[in-house]
Amino acid sequence: MQHQNSHAMVTRYKIKTLTEFVIENQSEYPHAKGALTRLLNDIGTAAKIVNREINAAGLVDILGTVGSTNVQGETQKKLDVYANDTFITTLRGGGECCAIASEENEKVISFQNNIAELGKYVVAIDPLDGSSNIESNVSIGTIFSIYRRQSEMGPGTHEDLLQPGVNQVAAGYVIYGSSTMLVYTTGKGVNGFTLDPSVGIFCLSHPNMKFPDNGNIYSVNEGYHVYFPEGVKRYIKYLQEEDPCTRRPYTSRYIGSLVADFHRNLIRGGIFLYPATRKAPNGKLRMLYECNPIAFLAEQAGGKASNGFERILEIQPKTLHQRAPLFTGPKKMVEKVEELMRIHSPEVKDTPLVEEEG
Ligand code: AHG
Ligand code: MN
Ligand code: MN
Repeated sequence: MQHQNSHAMVTRYKIKTLTEFVIENQSEYPHAKGALTRLLNDIGTAAKIVNREINAAGLVDILGTVGSTNVQGETQKKLDVYANDTFITTLRGGGECCAIASEENEKVISFQNNIAELGKYVVAIDPLDGSSNIESNVSIGTIFSIYRRQSEMGPGTHEDLLQPGVNQVAAGYVIYGSSTMLVYTTGKGVNGFTLDPSVGIFCLSHPNMKFPDNGNIYSVNEGYHVYFPEGVKRYIKYLQEEDPCTRRPYTSRYIGSLVADFHRNLIRGGIFLYPATRKAPNGKLRMLYECNPIAFLAEQAGGKASNGFERILEIQPKTLHQRAPLFTGPKKMVEKVEELMRIHSPEVKDTPLVEEEG
């Protein structure tokens, strides 16, 4: 008996690292030669470097703004720049990725060297998500999306990045929170790894993540209520009504970092909404490096992601920094808001795209 117990303990505490896990997963793809495995590990490495810098942010004078503005006209924080540089440098050196689209760069960064030009993949990235939360020590993140390149050879192209989300090979995020986690999917479920800071290794802590059925959280910036479409107003009203059978009223949680809001909702069960508003007719979040990767994860966790009318993953992006409204979470919750959007705000579906850039 004594012996059995101690054996159980050993089994239970056997650690599986991110590196081991991606290598094991690779064997499920018969023609894989390890390129995606190396790319995912490169992202894990860059994330650890960024994590170290974020942890030290309160100690050093790194929090001020650099003074430059990014393509959306927002002032860049130093950590945005640091994270962007770290991911770009790591992926350029890794040789598996031939081009990157980043929130912080107006144009596609196309790698012009012999090794990287041979890379089979392109990456869209939000290097630092939730940057308004940096100064207050609130969770922030990184979001990434990986596609197979479409061009045959040479430096990766703009068109390589403009693929619909259904073409994603892998996607995920890193959350720099009370602990740091990397959560990703390659289309066979969602798995979460927690960073053990003492040894610097991501360990499998959340295998096969699924939205729980019994959640009752909603996340939306209600400060903008007056600008919301009627369908969203009705949905929020519905969530606030009392009905014990459907666990209403729901509880409201909003951090203001998409990664952190989505992560909590994935674990606890909840819907995230960033609708089109009168001020932002296409919503705020960007298709390539916010909506699509989150949508891929949501679907792989048994949920849904919609712009209110269509599946996010099927929208063909036209420009690099294009925005889309985002409703994502457990299926039933997303279907309810879609129903109310169809009934009360059908005109929103045909809002012309406001071009953010050429
Ligand atoms: P980023 O820091 O990459 O610009 O992203 C911020 C995004 C997203 O993380 C969050 O969900 C949303 O902005 C919050 O916007 P509001 O402040 O308008 O609610
Ligand atoms: Mn973001
Ligand atoms: Mn960002």
